[in-house]
Amino acid sequence: MSITLGNKVVLVGTGAVGSSYAYSLMNQGLSDELVLVDLNEGKAQGDVMDLDHGIVYAPSSMMIRYGSYEDCKDAAIVVICAGAAQKPGETRLDLVNKNVKIFESIVGEIMKSGFDGIFIVATNPVDILTYATRKFSGLPKERVIGSGTVLDTARFRHFLGKEFGTAPTSVHGYIIGEHGDSQLPVWSSANISGTPVAPKLSEGRKSEIAEQVRDAAYRIIEMKGATYYGIAMGLARITKAILRNEHVVLPVGAMLEGEYGEEDVYIGVPCVIHRKGIEKVIELSLNDVEKEKFTASVQTLKDIQGQVWG
Ligand code: 2OP
Repeated sequence: MSITLGNKVVLVGTGAVGSSYAYSLMNQGLSDELVLVDLNEGKAQGDVMDLDHGIVYAPSSMMIRYGSYEDCKDAAIVVICAGAAQKPGETRLDLVNKNVKIFESIVGEIMKSGFDGIFIVATNPVDILTYATRKFSGLPKERVIGSGTVLDTARFRHFLGKEFGTAPTSVHGYIIGEHGDSQLPVWSSANISGTPVAPKLSEGRKSEIAEQVRDAAYRIIEMKGATYYGIAMGLARITKAILRNEHVVLPVGAMLEGEYGEEDVYIGVPCVIHRKGIEKVIELSLNDVEKEKFTASVQTLKDIQGQVWG
């Protein structure tokens, strides 16, 4: 298999997350060609028209059109945002069986086109569905990337930025683990310009911040029914890292094969991202509490994998 180059992106699923991603992509001038695929052709065609009318004010031109799975044939990246959505009060893991079935069919259709690029998966429960995408596609693990904890990490940096009156871009720290309730902040290495933040916060305050990060999606869903702008920016960031061969470190959903002493699980960890997908998984040095929580998060995901695939 030789990876498809170029910068064509196919977006599967133009709901709130997908269309926000398309808008981010256009705004950042990341791709020359974007194809939208959705069962609801009317919605996707409407998005094509709406986005087209913004192109004149975008940093660069982009061909946007409605298409089918066959368009994945020469795509550099296929981003999957399709699937049933999380309802108020429902956990991401509740969605699992519904969306694994949907993915079996979607990924099958994409692979039939001859697709030989990189998958980015955003649908929840994202860690399980990224694992499913790898399984159903048979692509090398480096080329199947989940949004993982890219959004949780952004929330963490946002809250810490507010706490210390610093821009979130100057806050360095990661949320790792499941994109869901068992995630954890890596307090031991979180810092602002090299100065650790953990000693400046009480245990209570640290717990509050971790809860705010973990529960942000529930709060937003209660208030407006769904979350989409934050994840869209995270997906665009991953897209940019790939298309521009950045070798940048981003917390994404990656398959562990020995890293952190774990294997056969897709989970959020910092990774170096380049034009061929995941170049390597960064192994943070975790303290004992963090190690224990990470192992528990892996176990949560493996239990679900066990339920789905026996
Ligand atoms: C989020 O974290 C719901 O997974 C989505 O915003």
